[in-house]
Amino acid sequence: VAEPDLAGRHVVVSAGGTREPLDPVRFLGNRSSGKQGYALARTAAARGARVTLVAANASLPDPAGVDVVPVGTAVELREAMLRAAADADAVVMAAAVADFRPAAYAAGKIKKKGDQEPAPIALVRNPDILAEIAADRPRSGQVVVGFAAETDDVLANGRAKLKRKGCDLLVVNEVGERKTFGSEENEAVVLGADGSETPVAHGPKEALAETVWDLVAERLG
Ligand code: PMT
Repeated sequence: VAEPDLAGRHVVVSAGGTREPLDPVRFLGNRSSGKQGYALARTAAARGARVTLVAANASLPDPAGVDVVPVGTAVELREAMLRAAADADAVVMAAAVADFRPAAYAAGKIKKKGDQEPAPIALVRNPDILAEIAADRPRSGQVVVGFAAETDDVLANGRAKLKRKGCDLLVVNEVGERKTFGSEENEAVVLGADGSETPVAHGPKEALAETVWDLVAERLG
């Protein structure tokens, strides 16, 4: 039985991958299944927290006792996160959020036109939700945790991302077509803004989640 060290705390977790629609049948998306975020939500609930899980396109069962808010796009994820973060003790962004979305949405299915070359897809930037929450801290003393999904120069990129995003902790994990996305397991290094580095060996996504909550609980005091 888990220590109820998060009892009385409200934590907000994002999970899954955003989908940015092009037309009624197509979207730009990514390979996140939501499993890492759901593991974070389950383990926080087991440690006594009130948990809000903002879930982007995940087809996983709702964890018991967790308030699940389903969303589709990055803009919807931002709205839901800002609302839930207003009274949260900790915010953990495990969702894979699209940095860009199509500039235009076609109300009807985009058609091939004869032998014409396909039109390029124009993109615009999405808001950086993690950086915004970390900069604004809707509640004082709030602990903000990000993830970094990297394919190369994993730790160097992670360290740069921690500074850029301004969060307290950044979980750096390596991803690939069949690595981390969708799997039951993960391995990572959790970087702290205080210079700490906590390696988490390859194992179930719950084990990484428990380490994240240990580090959050320390910072909440
Ligand atoms: O869902 P699974 O299949 O279990 O896979 C888990 C995972 C690989 C998705 C997860 O462990 C992970 O790494 N999640 C973060 C994915 C991601 O978007 O990484 P990033 O390096 O692109 O973004 C860095 C951080 O900024 C993330 O916390 C992200 O949520 C946040 N972000 C990114 C872009 C954006 N516009 N707004 C954001 O808030």
